[in-house]
Amino acid sequence: MGDAVGTGGRPRVVLGVSGGIAAYKACELLRRLTESGHDVKVVPTASALNFVGAVTWSALSGHNVSTEVWSDVHEVPHVRIGQHADLVVVAPATADMLAKAAHGLADDLLTNTLLTARCPVVFAPAMHTEMWEHPATQENVATLRRRGAVVIEPAVGRLTGVDTGKGRLPDPGEIFEICRHVLRRHRLARGVSAPDLAGRHVVISAGGTREPLDPVRYLGNRSSGKQGYALARTAAARGARVTLVEANTGFADPAGVDVVHVGTAVQLREAVLKAAADADAVVMAAAVADFRPATYAEGKIKKKDGVEAPVVTLVRNPDILAEISAERARADQVIVGFAAETDDVLANGRDKLRRKGCDLLVVNEVGERKTFGAEENEAVVLAADGGETPVPHGPKEALADTVWDLVVPRLA
Ligand code: CTP
Repeated sequence: MGDAVGTGGRPRVVLGVSGGIAAYKACELLRRLTESGHDVKVVPTASALNFVGAVTWSALSGHNVSTEVWSDVHEVPHVRIGQHADLVVVAPATADMLAKAAHGLADDLLTNTLLTARCPVVFAPAMHTEMWEHPATQENVATLRRRGAVVIEPAVGRLTGVDTGKGRLPDPGEIFEICRHVLRRHRLARGVSAPDLAGRHVVISAGGTREPLDPVRYLGNRSSGKQGYALARTAAARGARVTLVEANTGFADPAGVDVVHVGTAVQLREAVLKAAADADAVVMAAAVADFRPATYAEGKIKKKDGVEAPVVTLVRNPDILAEISAERARADQVIVGFAAETDDVLANGRDKLRRKGCDLLVVNEVGERKTFGAEENEAVVLAADGGETPVPHGPKEALADTVWDLVVPRLA
């Protein structure tokens, strides 16, 4: 018996599963989607069923499962499933599936669904590194992206067997976050959201630098890095190639994002300058220490009886935002700074925007219980051309999307 997707007004998601060993990880993605209120119809390929059987997909999704167009023909599933979906996500997407999708082949239920879907489509590829890097696959990926699909970059790590390299399916939780974001944007844009950062390279710094005093101590700050990670995730979901320069956050790498791990302000500067060389936009969300200890003690600084506490002399760190704004790697690069202020928030923000020379400055008020480590944020985005965009209290993802909404029209 066939059944209808989209019961009870829940967002309708089609989870396409193609035949790779990572199919088992799609069970976790399915669980996350259903538990967060999505109505999920699983459409595996015949070869996917060699890895995970129809019974599992059916039990976890609450819908029947078929791979080909000849079941429940009276319901015309080969067009109905795609037409009624709010999102199609294919995880894992094999090299073969990407090729079929890029060329519009339609020899089973999933490929028919991809041809009839008019909603956003997300592919999460997983395959061996050689297959991913092959020019045929890369051209297929480029074709799909050009047409508006989000193709998540595979993760790097252990592959089937003893191989390691690029080609792993990203963490299901990360794929879920991208799906959630794509659905949310699509809903807010009333169906006209496009991956407007496709073909763009964006660089984001996140977290807080630590300036070592000795092997066990450092000067640090209270930045969690959540806003920077929200910027990275939303940019990836909007189709960008993303480099995230991360300082001391401890978070897992977001799906489809190249992450560079650093510790200090000097290391962060080096990594940002390197990545910014070919970037369309740079967003400095990291809290960079303005000062570092002038000397680093090779051994732990010990207290000594009868000796006063040592005095720590500080020296200035480079101002990375001011430097990349003054010496832009490309004349058309868009540069965004953040300003955390405790008093005279807007006046200080305007002054900082001028001093730093960036195009946009996200100004927010910080304090003991505000912003640091919180899931939500509230800010005003000031533009060098005089614009002022208030962002009401809400998820850090919403602020991140506003930043990208302001960056996109400024890109060449
Ligand atoms: N920033 C930077 N390099 C530094 C310090 C800050 O690139 N050495 C960047 C931050 O990433 C942020 C912006 O500058 O995007 C503003 O950071 P903030 O700490 O508010 O500015 P400060 O330069 O420290 O200004 P002030 O001393 O007035 O607080």
